[in-house]
Amino acid sequence: MLDLAVSRRAILMSAGAAAAWLASPARALLQAAGKVAVPAFVDQLISRMTLEEKAGQLQLMASAWGGGTALSLNPPGNGSDFQQQVDEARQGQLTGVFNGNGARMARILQTAAVSHSRLKIPLIFAADIIHGHRTIFPVPLAEVASFEPELARRTAEAAAFEASGAGIDWTFSPMVDVARDQRWGRGVEGGGEDPLLGSLFAAARVHGFQGADLKSNEHLLSCIKHFAAYGAAESGLDYNAVDISMRRLREVYLRPYKAGFDAGALSAMASFNEINGIPSTGNHWLMTELLRGEWGFEGFVVSDYTGDEEMIAAGYAKDGRDAARIAFLAGVDMSMQSGLYRQFLPALVRSGEVPEAKLNESVRRVLALKAMLGLFENPFRRIDEKREAARSMLPRTRALAREAGRKAIVLLKNDGDLLPLPRSGKKIALIGPFAAGAHDLVGPWVVYGDDAKAVDLATGVRAAVADAASVTVAQGSGVEEPLAGGIEQAVAAARAADVVILAIGEGANMSGEAQSRTEIVVPAPQQALAEAVAATGKPLVVVLKHGRALALEGAVADAPAILATWFLGSETGNAIADVLFGAYGPSGRLPASFPWKSGQEPYYYAHKPTGRPNPPGELQPYKAHFRGIPNSARFPFGHGLTYGSIEYSGFGLSSPSMPANGAIQVSATVTNRGSRAAEEVVQLYIHDRVASVTQPVRELKAFRKVALAPGQSQVVTFTLSPGDLAFYGLQDRPTVEPGTFDVWIAPSAEAEGVHGSFDLVA
Ligand code: NOJ
Repeated sequence: MLDLAVSRRAILMSAGAAAAWLASPARALLQAAGKVAVPAFVDQLISRMTLEEKAGQLQLMASAWGGGTALSLNPPGNGSDFQQQVDEARQGQLTGVFNGNGARMARILQTAAVSHSRLKIPLIFAADIIHGHRTIFPVPLAEVASFEPELARRTAEAAAFEASGAGIDWTFSPMVDVARDQRWGRGVEGGGEDPLLGSLFAAARVHGFQGADLKSNEHLLSCIKHFAAYGAAESGLDYNAVDISMRRLREVYLRPYKAGFDAGALSAMASFNEINGIPSTGNHWLMTELLRGEWGFEGFVVSDYTGDEEMIAAGYAKDGRDAARIAFLAGVDMSMQSGLYRQFLPALVRSGEVPEAKLNESVRRVLALKAMLGLFENPFRRIDEKREAARSMLPRTRALAREAGRKAIVLLKNDGDLLPLPRSGKKIALIGPFAAGAHDLVGPWVVYGDDAKAVDLATGVRAAVADAASVTVAQGSGVEEPLAGGIEQAVAAARAADVVILAIGEGANMSGEAQSRTEIVVPAPQQALAEAVAATGKPLVVVLKHGRALALEGAVADAPAILATWFLGSETGNAIADVLFGAYGPSGRLPASFPWKSGQEPYYYAHKPTGRPNPPGELQPYKAHFRGIPNSARFPFGHGLTYGSIEYSGFGLSSPSMPANGAIQVSATVTNRGSRAAEEVVQLYIHDRVASVTQPVRELKAFRKVALAPGQSQVVTFTLSPGDLAFYGLQDRPTVEPGTFDVWIAPSAEAEGVHGSFDLVA
């Protein structure tokens, strides 16, 4: 039998070689920021603390005085009221609260802690600042569609600016869980299906939230969540078990977390799920051996909301005391919301089940971070009611929301160049449940944002056209229920118009936590509306609202023009109108593949070839495909059109082979043959033809956004090095093997683009 390991002369790479970005200077710089400095007073303080006070520093609770939708997002389970929380702060039973109600609330609690508690240890205030504070930016998945990590850094920084003005020190963000099953609702909070793209956005967001100095009252401590593999839940059911190979875990799911920590994030949140039978919250390998041992993480880990207690229902802990012991010994420093740490840790230490030295270590981490945030020097540094108001929804922040919004929009289809629409001379029927109204604009996971302060589509469209009276609005349908007479009214409006803009899709409550779907389609009443409106024969532009990739059907899929617009936040209507009427040419690309049918899920472009791949084109018997649908995505990862017409040509390699210690340049010419300016996201994919472990059909290795005037050509050159060719090998390490690699420079993960191959030689 052939011994692959010998015959292929594997070259073992040093750890971390799998992604090109890991070698970047920016990463090296920010890794230094991942260090925790422990001031001398911290240990002195710990030596004066009672066990109860120590446990108190490890107990985080939802604010009893909730802000915005905070209470409905995290209903207070323990019936605490605000006065009780103030008392807990005085008694040193609380390390801080989350999702509270602004600077005034924070001042009351902080005063209780620093003026009236025995040791005067400041509280930390946390919140889910996921895609904005008061100014709401596109949902994270949408922002990833920009393929512009720098944009995410800027919006995270702007969110930190607003939130830190409102007394918040710490954000539970970014969520970096790779999501490859679109039935799962929480993909909307993350970085999409690809680990490289997700890693770049994870790092960018950490940089934006934390800035260069955690003490700055314009920045926040960032929290990488949900550690780990929360997005790999079986069948896309939220909270479900994850059963996964170490290879898949390392090659795909762990990478964005690692990127976030390497970027300097100093806190992490344990995920709700189990991995291979062990809940993350009680997983010593994950929280201690991998995170601290192998990766050198120096910050602290918080459980998710009652995640420690949930190990009882999961069948991993027998009661609350057992759950606290397991979670704490696994390496979860802080408990969120269950109250189990403050309830049981002192007794667990007294009985010898938890070493006090370990308790001290966790307290040390938390106090050191409070010190790094500048809270010991000035516990009120982010608490200032005037600043809170002065920073809220500034014009420049709204302008950034509009910029981010339009960059997040993906033009899926534009038959006959229906878009952009002219600003005058056409009667427009704006139809659908998302055509108008202060709802479903800011999207899921917003604690402090407000739909009433966001621009709806009708307002954006009316502001963009020459004559606002040329726009007629008809709701047509509810989101998930029909509207009596709605279709008739919509059809009449369509008949009277020259063009129809149909705003349909998912409501904000259909994605996000606990919102798994079995059918990732446009809800039936809206589909019926689309069929009826399409039957009028009027030119139809579909504007989709969604928190995940969808399986489009019937008249929606057949519409000549389709825009994927996600949830764009405060500037929704203006951003969409910018694209509809051509003030901005669409430049977004899909961060998650749109399948033909829900039943293809989990569908992701980087799948394995199988031993019986169906060749492109017709479905062949006994080849890997589903009955009756193409063996591909309807709109693959990376897809997105422009208002130009982009041609790929002139594939070039600097050499037919890459030496094991060298590099190779891969280039292509992109030309805009259209009459409008365009921004193209040029993508580079590889495939390792034969390896000791089968490899995906394609993997993204690099991309670049290039602006092309009409008629302009540009040569785009990428450099690949052996580290880009690494996979998790048989020896459980990143491995590169000599052999032939296919390489594409293409406009999407499933487009041909231009391509060739090269050999990696030992
Ligand atoms: C539960 C969610 O899973 C997590 O993402 C969030 O940060 C916490 N609740 C706190 O709101």
